[in-house]
Amino acid sequence: MIKVGVFGAGHLGKFHLNNWKEIKGVELVGFFDPNDAIAGDVQNKYQVRRFLNEEELMDACHAVDIIAPTNIHFDLCEKAIKKGKHVFVEKPLANTMAEAKELVNLVKESNIKLQVGHVERFNPAYLSIRDLQPTPMFIEVHRLAQFNPRGTEVSVILDLMIHDIDIILSIVKSDVKNISANGVAVMTETPDIASVRIEFNNGCVANLTSSRISMKKMRKMRLFQKDAYIGIDFLNKKTEIIRLKTPDDIDSFSFDLDTSDGKKSISISNPQAPEVNAIKMELEKFCDSIINNKTPVVSEVDGYRAMDVAHQILKKIKLNSITN
Ligand SMILES: NC(=O)c1ccc[n+]([C@@H]2O[C@H](COP(=O)([O-])OP(=O)(O)OC[C@H]3O[C@@H](n4cnc5c(N)ncnc54)[C@H](O)[C@@H]3O)[C@@H](O)[C@H]2O)c1
Repeated sequence: MIKVGVFGAGHLGKFHLNNWKEIKGVELVGFFDPNDAIAGDVQNKYQVRRFLNEEELMDACHAVDIIAPTNIHFDLCEKAIKKGKHVFVEKPLANTMAEAKELVNLVKESNIKLQVGHVERFNPAYLSIRDLQPTPMFIEVHRLAQFNPRGTEVSVILDLMIHDIDIILSIVKSDVKNISANGVAVMTETPDIASVRIEFNNGCVANLTSSRISMKKMRKMRLFQKDAYIGIDFLNKKTEIIRLKTPDDIDSFSFDLDTSDGKKSISISNPQAPEVNAIKMELEKFCDSIINNKTPVVSEVDGYRAMDVAHQILKKIKLNSITN
């Protein structure tokens, strides 16, 4: 039985508490949240023990789940790792690159597993195409959300775009060569809307647009590669693949096009997205990494790499705002 303690019972923390209660082989020991109003409400609704001392909860657990504000991630992670506890921490891994680097080093020197909450890796739409191992040369991403003060202590890059950065880094097996970026702070002190171009050494180019001041929601990624177009709709959990027909495309809709070298058959398919609860699945995979001594699906190094690109983007945006 893995004993788990939850740190932070706000908006997302409540989802985590509910999911932990359903995961087999886990004992939810309790939670710590310094906000009395939130903690009282959670105690009543979820029937989970509230700890008033964070160290006491850590000592009672094998693993901690950190869903506190980003500026507290480092402090809680460091304490837990030094106590030899496994850590699940929400994205972004930490507030600064120095903190993220220190966490990577601490994990390396320890015997614990650390997983970062890049939950889109478990989105059914992404899961339905992941095994195809896409090799895109061109990527277009739009992640648009309506304004919500929650999460605005960090820029839209660290709040929303970091999800797409992590997915792109997991797909494109090449180093980043160059980044161009521009962003505007409209409702908060940090960029609320941004347009970014990431060029990779293998020639792949990714264009990302993120906004948290949009009138409508959208979370779409489009991958273009030599033999296919792959559309991933994270919001509606649907995928679409359009490609030159192969003998394997037996279930797909297809039509012929006249080209200069004769007729070509195009197939359109919508791979079935598995019916999974992404949060429950990421927590289950975290437990699996502990039990079976595996590298977590989204490791501390993945969390660091996503943050590294995000911070390079923020630097470019800052530079542009100074020169303009
Ligand atoms: N993966 C995702 O898609 C996703 C989505 C939303 C938020 N997040 C991340 O989750 C984290 C929390 O976001 P939220 O929307 O739930 O915020 P929230 O403000 O609703 O909740 C944060 C909670 O942490 C508590 N807290 C403050 N200091 C604490 C401490 N020292 N120890 C324990 N708890 C403490 C607060 O009282 C609050 O209840 C952030 O890091 C955010 O980036 C991730």
